[in-house]
Amino acid sequence: MNAAQFPSGAAGAFVGASPVNSAPVPQAGNQPPLLQVSNLGKSFGGVKAVDGITFELAAGELLALIGPNGAGKSTTFNMVNGQLPADQGSILLGGQELVGRKPRAIWRLGVGRTFQIAETFASLTVVENVQMALLSQDGKLFSMWRRAGDHRRPEALALLEQVSMAGQAERACSTLAYGDVKRVELAIAMANSPKLLLMDEPTAGMAPRERNSLMALTKELVLSRGMAVLFTEHSMDVVFAYADRMIVLARGRLIAQGKPLEIRDHPKVQEVYFGSGKTFEKIAQKAAQVNAAVGAAA
Ligand SMILES: Nc1ncnc2c1ncn2[C@@H]1O[C@H](COP(=O)(O)OP(=O)(O)OP(=O)(O)O)[C@@H](O)[C@H]1O
Ligand SMILES: [Mg+2]
Repeated sequence: MNAAQFPSGAAGAFVGASPVNSAPVPQAGNQPPLLQVSNLGKSFGGVKAVDGITFELAAGELLALIGPNGAGKSTTFNMVNGQLPADQGSILLGGQELVGRKPRAIWRLGVGRTFQIAETFASLTVVENVQMALLSQDGKLFSMWRRAGDHRRPEALALLEQVSMAGQAERACSTLAYGDVKRVELAIAMANSPKLLLMDEPTAGMAPRERNSLMALTKELVLSRGMAVLFTEHSMDVVFAYADRMIVLARGRLIAQGKPLEIRDHPKVQEVYFGSGKTFEKIAQKAAQVNAAVGAAA
């Protein structure tokens, strides 16, 4: 992240209904949080990419993982989804240990992630792409050149409905606008009904309007499905408008966690992010607009 700035007054208005003094993970009854990460660590050579971090995430919560470039965000993601083995620590999903499991097994337990639609699938239609995801959930082998036919088509269309893409179901993915591709990717990630969805920089390369639209959609899915989302994001306006809570990494260490307003005012976070000499007026204004729009829609 380059010299991020935090929104001021308006920031966190969307989430600001919650008290700012502490940020416990919301829990239903005596249920433990969906995800419990403890003392998680990973080194590359002499570099401690992730250095003993501990955090929790509840069902129905949108948690932003932020931090400067090289802070360890993607490494954390890749340990949760099993692509990287952890050197130390534990990752419990609903009480089940994920460390030591293969990505496929972790996916089966309910950890989804957004993938960029592979080049090879760009020639398939929107609905065929989602059908492929549903087929893969069935564990069926599927040749790339074989079309999905009508297999699980109604479910695929229902998923596309949820991301407002049913009207474009028959278009080839290669002809879609970038923001629409992102919606299809979200539908594909939903095919496995994940309990936890990981999104690494979901809005990278998107225009502000598209960014907000994708995150508003994600928020809707979180609320309607009770799904948890862990996402990294470099646009502070998006983070402050949509995250329920935030965790902040710097050089592999977790330096702060809490609600957006707490994070904005956190001395360690300010130390890491500020000092660029840039003002943050513009981002504050944007966050105010987003908050107003979300508030009006609610
Ligand atoms: N496969 C790897 N081999 C060696 N070093 C790596 C590897 N992956 C990450 N690192 C190092 O680990 C540290 C954390 O990297 P990571 O990609 O997790 O950061 P990040 O927070 O995702 O950064 P960004 O915001 O740029 O995406 C960095 O110092 C990086 O150079
Ligand atoms: Mg990264």
